[in-house]
Amino acid sequence: MRTKIKDILLSDKLDYEVIVKGWVRSFRNNQFIALNDGSIIDNIQVVISENSDEALLKNIQTGAALSVTGKVIASQGKGQKVEIVASQVELLGTCDPEQFPLQAKNRPSLEYLREIAHLRFRTNVFGAVFRVRNSIAFAIHKFFNEKGFVYLHTPIVTASDAEGAGEMFRVTTLPFDNPPRKEDGTIDFAEDFFGKSTNLTVSGQLEAELAAMALGEVYTFGPTFRAENSNTARHLAEFWMVEPEVAFNDLQDNMNLAEEFMQYVIKYVLDHNKEDLAFLQERLINEEKQKPANERSEMTLIDKLNFVIENKFERITYTEAIDILLQSKPYQKKQFKYDVSWGIDLQSEHERFLVEKHFKKPVIVTDYPKDIKAFYMRLNDDGKTVAAMDILAPGIGEIVGGSQREERLEVLESRMNDMHIPHEEMYWYLDSRRFGTAPHAGFGLGFERMVLFITGMTNIRDVIPFPRTPGNAAF
Ligand code: 4AD
Ligand code: MG
Repeated sequence: MRTKIKDILLSDKLDYEVIVKGWVRSFRNNQFIALNDGSIIDNIQVVISENSDEALLKNIQTGAALSVTGKVIASQGKGQKVEIVASQVELLGTCDPEQFPLQAKNRPSLEYLREIAHLRFRTNVFGAVFRVRNSIAFAIHKFFNEKGFVYLHTPIVTASDAEGAGEMFRVTTLPFDNPPRKEDGTIDFAEDFFGKSTNLTVSGQLEAELAAMALGEVYTFGPTFRAENSNTARHLAEFWMVEPEVAFNDLQDNMNLAEEFMQYVIKYVLDHNKEDLAFLQERLINEEKQKPANERSEMTLIDKLNFVIENKFERITYTEAIDILLQSKPYQKKQFKYDVSWGIDLQSEHERFLVEKHFKKPVIVTDYPKDIKAFYMRLNDDGKTVAAMDILAPGIGEIVGGSQREERLEVLESRMNDMHIPHEEMYWYLDSRRFGTAPHAGFGLGFERMVLFITGMTNIRDVIPFPRTPGNAAF
């Protein structure tokens, strides 16, 4: 039976026989193989006999797959506690060094690795990122499960535009070169597969609301699609979102839940991914050395994560945020690209000023102007703002968006009128306000933005296994 390298490295046991299987990271002096099997960031050192078979020696190349039988002993050399003295080495798969792009010597850049995304799992950095990503996903389920939430699977194909942003991917089986048309020339979606116009979901929230109005506490966690053409380091066309929805919660409860949730997940990773975080932290420190001193972060990655779980998030209203921005140095020195006044949608430069320069911690901004937020957010008594909350994180900007929902049928209908959302298509959603409506609230966490925050990576393409962005869906 195969033993995982992680179990060998994290155990104090010595002098026992094992079979390990993995990929060669390096081979030196025709004797020392660094073998990695993905279970842990560290390699195990395999020592082979100097007079091994010539053909075998030639094939032990970086990237090759091996099965090694041998004995775990206390290491003779420096740099590792244990090593394996091999009694048998079997070559499972060769790797031509002339062709293989991941040679230990030339450290490939993240940009280059994005071009060969099918191979980047073989690097330390992506191994660490994807193990951490897995832990975050698991911690999310654990958190909600411990609290008694029901994990709800919301549909991927929908007929509604939950966010009203209109940036959706159409789903159709109609022939696009010659679709059936109505008398007025428009496409006849009655003939389409679902008998209506459909798209990939931008959010599972509206469906989650219906379930929360019966099950009490639910959450969704699934892929979400947005055809916004923003080619930034924070946007994906296909990303994952976590959306809890809770009956009887108000905005305060919603903020408390979001804060507790984020801190729980971060703590889980701090406790369970120590080797990966230590590696990612080291990587960041090296990367920051290239930057000018005033652009380096003040905290190391692990200090930053500990700081976030030990300190309360700052809570301010949108109106207070605008006041802070108006009084800020960059505003007065005209250093912001976008103007600031009450009513604007906060730009990422404004969000980053608030979290990175002014408060130096995560900030929850509440009560945004109604005109820049979605129709389902609860109208405040001032008639101008809604019970929205965005969480802004250092280095990321918006990581969570949520709100208390408009539970009053007449107010909701009048907001839908204002925003030209047809009532007929939303009858199923409005029914939740007709039959036993109740206050409720929820939020959406951008899963990849959370992975960015915890790993300290800077480009969202580097925290999802196969990124989907404008012009990019190769593998
Ligand atoms: O703020 P958003 O648009 O909120 C919603 O979709 C609500 N329905 C959530 C809810 O209340 N249940 O998106 C939520 C989060 C954002 O804060 C951001 O972190 C992430 O989803 N997000 C994206 N992440 C990656 N790529 C994109 N294109 C994203 N758009 C939003
Ligand atoms: Mg948002």
